[in-house]
Amino acid sequence: MGARIIDGKGFASGVRGRVAEAVARLKAAHGITPGLAVVLVGEDPASQVYVRNKGVQTREAGMASFEHKLPAETPQAELLALIARLNADPAVHGILVQLPLPGHMDAEAVINAIDPRKDVDGFHVLNVGLLGTGQKAMVPCTPLGCLMLLRDALGDLAGLNAVVVGRSNIVGKPMAQLLLNESCTVTIAHSRTRDLAGLCRSADILVAAVGRPRMIRGDWVKPGATVIDVGINRIEEEGRTRLVGDVDFEGAAGVAGAITPVPGGVGPMTIACLLANTLTACCRANG
Ligand code: GUN
Repeated sequence: MGARIIDGKGFASGVRGRVAEAVARLKAAHGITPGLAVVLVGEDPASQVYVRNKGVQTREAGMASFEHKLPAETPQAELLALIARLNADPAVHGILVQLPLPGHMDAEAVINAIDPRKDVDGFHVLNVGLLGTGQKAMVPCTPLGCLMLLRDALGDLAGLNAVVVGRSNIVGKPMAQLLLNESCTVTIAHSRTRDLAGLCRSADILVAAVGRPRMIRGDWVKPGATVIDVGINRIEEEGRTRLVGDVDFEGAAGVAGAITPVPGGVGPMTIACLLANTLTACCRANG
């Protein structure tokens, strides 16, 4: 085990602390409290846990938390009407609709109904376009958290070979865009990539976001590389439930220069960045 273990949990706690300080200053100086509305449709157990954690950490940062829980069979028009009310509500600076949505809903239409200035997930097509053209955008929380950890671990990222495994709109694509904006040489790999192992071995920065437990093997990692594991997979092992990443941690830690653990790596950064984005949205809304 040679790699430095990247302490995402500690880093996220620092980000949340700085957000809380800024929120306190905003309240004291201007009487403004940033507000985050989270909308959950249906009863997906994992989503319920995420939404609860978001509410707790939002309040801990001194922000207002508005939770809206709708039944799974809610008509899409009703969800759109709620989003319109939140768009118009001056106490709400950030809106997050938890994904995935029930099958009868058109997730793109729902996301694009959010006021882009309140789109703290950075999923609205306007924010995707702003990020893609290097303009000031709301940046998706998980890739933003990964970038913060990478900058902290490596400093300047320019010229490094980055391989992002996974092409989702939530993580893979925005992660690749952020790394490109940092002047990395970026490749996005996916389920149809040929010689994935060989490609991964070329990476100075390897980001795994595929949702498949321990898919990335230790011998796919370039010696000294920085490995960011976005996966959170629940598996049954030796009679108990464990959380594991998309990377074979034991194998990769023997080769990499630095690696994020699961849990305690990327996971805590997502909510920390959500709070940071909500603060940013609030500051922009108030000039
Ligand atoms: N579901 C899984 N990750 C996310 C996320 O970052 N934002 C939202 N809205 N839903 C998710």
